[in-house]
Amino acid sequence: MKKRVLTGITPSGTLHLGNYVGAVRPSVEQSRRDDVESFYFLSDLHALIKNHDPERLQRSRLQIAATWLAAGLDPERVTFYRQSDIPETPVLNWLLDCVCPKGLMNRAHAYKAKVEESEKAGEDPDARVSMGLFCYPILMAADILLFNADLVPVGKDQSQHLEMARDIAIRFNNLYAPKDRPFFHLPYGLIDEKQELLPGTDGRKMSKSYDNVIPLFEGGSAALAEMVKRIVTDDKKPGEPKDPDSSSLTLLYRSFSTNEEYQNFRHELEDGLGWGEAKEKLYRQIEAEIGPMRPKYDRFMNEPAVLEEILQEGAKKARRYATPFLEELIEAVGLQPFTRIKADTPATKKQQKKKKAAAFKQYRDPDGTFGFKLEDADGTVLLVSSGWASGAEAGRTVARLKKEGAAALASLPSVKRPEGVDEARVEAALSSFE
Ligand code: TRP
Repeated sequence: MKKRVLTGITPSGTLHLGNYVGAVRPSVEQSRRDDVESFYFLSDLHALIKNHDPERLQRSRLQIAATWLAAGLDPERVTFYRQSDIPETPVLNWLLDCVCPKGLMNRAHAYKAKVEESEKAGEDPDARVSMGLFCYPILMAADILLFNADLVPVGKDQSQHLEMARDIAIRFNNLYAPKDRPFFHLPYGLIDEKQELLPGTDGRKMSKSYDNVIPLFEGGSAALAEMVKRIVTDDKKPGEPKDPDSSSLTLLYRSFSTNEEYQNFRHELEDGLGWGEAKEKLYRQIEAEIGPMRPKYDRFMNEPAVLEEILQEGAKKARRYATPFLEELIEAVGLQPFTRIKADTPATKKQQKKKKAAAFKQYRDPDGTFGFKLEDADGTVLLVSSGWASGAEAGRTVARLKKEGAAALASLPSVKRPEGVDEARVEAALSSFE
């Protein structure tokens, strides 16, 4: 079965070459693989947490959607949509809010960092924390779980959010799903350790906060040429041998060339290529890749209606999965229409009774050791264990089985299932204690 890969792109500001090399280009490549099914969306509800300027938000959503499509994301192949066009997301968000312990959110790094900032500034610890920020990981869990994504490509800073999404999924599954048919898969982060970090014009990581970024599409080729000219180099003259690693120029060049071209470029610098000429070469190299995408970008920017239509199609495609799935979840929590209330069948009643009645019984063996057994409602013995040195030890094992369920059995060889007892029955009985 194809793996489902899903990721959100928060529209904040415009994208620069660092974003292109680090995120856009690899994601577009990934989306062309045949063994994955990709869901990419603009996490514009998340953007509201930081951005309270409607015009800026609007512009950023437009620019970022245009960028991804211009960079080659194929909306026929991937499901590309806006988070805000999926009404199922905020509903699921609420269902998850109601099963997520507040303590889990208290531990979120991003929230804790804000609290620390406030404390340092001598303010109330929550002065900089909106409920949106505090609950950010739950909305992200809703994004992921609504589509039952298996893999979520994210930056390292987001891996805690994936852990939280798994915790929340497990809680919801345990509370509401039949044991053998969990609603949610557990999603895992796809964290690219070797993700290229592109340096900016001054050699530090390319970042808006350092004001060293080279724009991707904004400002056209003129802006690109202008920023490439600003790359910092030493003052060696043309003809003087240069250290290729003394400027971020070389690393930038590498991200837009084959290894052979890159090695040649290094040698040319060592042989005295002037910095001015080197910059010209770098510019041409980048332009060769980005240039052909520009008309598409400009077209989307000038005709937002075209973009809108693509995104509406994307939302429709996404909702073909999300709408029926949310309906199932709504029913599971007990919010279905009255016409869909299931009659209490004798079978479900019996099952409920049985579940409640499974019990552990501890006892002392004639040889003085301690033991326990697990009995189902009808008295069937499901597990037996004897030979424990103390009652406390046997008790601890029982507690572990109650807490961890059947998963604990693998590491408890002395706990035996009598012949003829079905494994699933033991699992069901154990899960009734969780
Ligand atoms: N939090 C992510 C970021 O800032 C964006 C995001 C929102 C996301 N929802 C998501 C990423 C779901 C992956 C999956 O980069």
